[in-house]
Amino acid sequence: MAAVTSRTQADSVPDNLDDLVLHMADVGVRRGGTDLLQGVNWRVELDERWVILGSNGAGKTTLLRLAGAELHPTTGTVHVLGERLGRVNVFELRTRVGFATAATGNRLPQDEKVLDVVVSAGYAVLGRGREEYDRLDTGRAADLLKAMGIAGLADRTFGTLSEGERKRTLIARALMTDPELLLLDEPAAGLDLGGREDLVARLTDLALDPDAPATVLVTHHVEEIPPGFTHLLLLSHGGVVAQGLIDEVLTGENLSAAFGQSLELERSGDRFFARRSH
Ligand SMILES: Nc1ncnc2c1ncn2[C@@H]1O[C@H](COP(=O)(O)OP(=O)(O)O)[C@@H](O)[C@H]1O
Ligand SMILES: [Mg+2]
Repeated sequence: MAAVTSRTQADSVPDNLDDLVLHMADVGVRRGGTDLLQGVNWRVELDERWVILGSNGAGKTTLLRLAGAELHPTTGTVHVLGERLGRVNVFELRTRVGFATAATGNRLPQDEKVLDVVVSAGYAVLGRGREEYDRLDTGRAADLLKAMGIAGLADRTFGTLSEGERKRTLIARALMTDPELLLLDEPAAGLDLGGREDLVARLTDLALDPDAPATVLVTHHVEEIPPGFTHLLLLSHGGVVAQGLIDEVLTGENLSAAFGQSLELERSGDRFFARRSH
């Protein structure tokens, strides 16, 4: 009995918060009488790379916005990088998180140069009000563009980029501040096959880099799961269907439960494919 009691307490009040990138205990988010999330328990450790998978409207972006300290839970507790939401200055906390989402791309000035789109992440976050960026910052931004395979686009304006190039620019921007947590909301959405495959390969490089931050990637396609990602959380109607190691959790049965139809899962090497079962 004693063991059961102590485990329950450990789940609600984490004792190793310093090692935890994210901790959510019985989290719910309610808007206009609707539960966008309910009963979510989730912990992410330093060296983990998570995929959040679920259909449109499942609550994936809402979960990611909690992780990015952009939203407070209606119920339950959320710790981000050891800080409890509601008891911490979220503006400071957000400087430690890199968040790449199409919404950021839409807010950015379309006539800004690609290199500046990346450098200005540090500028906005640090708020130093400098007119000129440090050479070090510019060098880091150039390195990140190179790592994302778009070094040649540094002087192009953001508005002239293809969808895939925009996505890669936004990931470089999210990495600019050397975040402790990287959040990617549907980075492969809208990409053609070549663009998707290129991005998956780059995300695999990132996932396998031991210096890369803990990462959470949202998608609704199993084909977009980059090799190197370690964990999976399946979300449906705001609730967790299953979570844990990808190899254990990604099954046809769990996928069918998450997407509400009978699905078959195929694995080919380190990639996954799904289709409706006959
Ligand atoms: N402020 C809000 N008020 C009411 N419903 C919302 C609000 N924000 C999102 N939703 C709804 O919550 C559900 C989950 O949204 P979201 O987290 O964006 O899902 P996903 O990213 O998985 O597609 C959707 O049905 C969406 O329409
Ligand atoms: Mg979404």
